[in-house]
Amino acid sequence: MTQPNQNEKPPFVLSRTVAIGVAAILGLLIGAALWLVMAPDRTGPGVPGQVQSGVADIGGPFSLITHDDVAVTDKDFEGRYKFIYFGYTFCPDVCPLGLLFMQDVLTQLGADGDAITPLFISIDPERDSPAVLKDYIASFHPRLIGLTGTPEAVADVAAAYKMYYGKAPVADGGTSKAGDYGIDHMNIFYLMGPDGAYLAHFISPTSPKETAARIRKHLK
Ligand code: NI
Repeated sequence: MTQPNQNEKPPFVLSRTVAIGVAAILGLLIGAALWLVMAPDRTGPGVPGQVQSGVADIGGPFSLITHDDVAVTDKDFEGRYKFIYFGYTFCPDVCPLGLLFMQDVLTQLGADGDAITPLFISIDPERDSPAVLKDYIASFHPRLIGLTGTPEAVADVAAAYKMYYGKAPVADGGTSKAGDYGIDHMNIFYLMGPDGAYLAHFISPTSPKETAARIRKHLK
């Protein structure tokens, strides 16, 4: 294939700034929509003992592969609290910050955090093989488990968690190769209970201390 003239930009390619702006606005809109449809907390106002509508719709069964290339399902995590984040290893900035946030929250929780399994679920199964995931998560919390799978399995688990994402063109001024892509995705963290039920979510990495305090209220 011939290389395109570097000075010539196709008119439909958004500048990186515009693309980031659009992604940010999209993220805010999706976040706002989520706040409207989801109760922020399962133990919020409502009839005691009754799960508020919408809340129970988050989560569900999955069949994925760990960073050690072991096939697992949601059943393998039964009895554990789960702190879940979706992303991809090629993510330039958002995902690394998200994983550092998870790490900080677990540090804040101290020994209480031992009841929680942190999970990083890839939404980029094409590039995130178990080996790629393993290499990537080594930079983060020592108990972090990376999960990937077939494109179908990943799409299923993302749908179960109302985790919206989509491929986006890479427009970084020339360092990318043909076929490279980014993935726009929600920046959201889920706390799931030992029985797999949704407990809480956190939209963006704010204060690890505050988040740890909220999580602690759910730990029994
Ligand atoms: Ni990301």
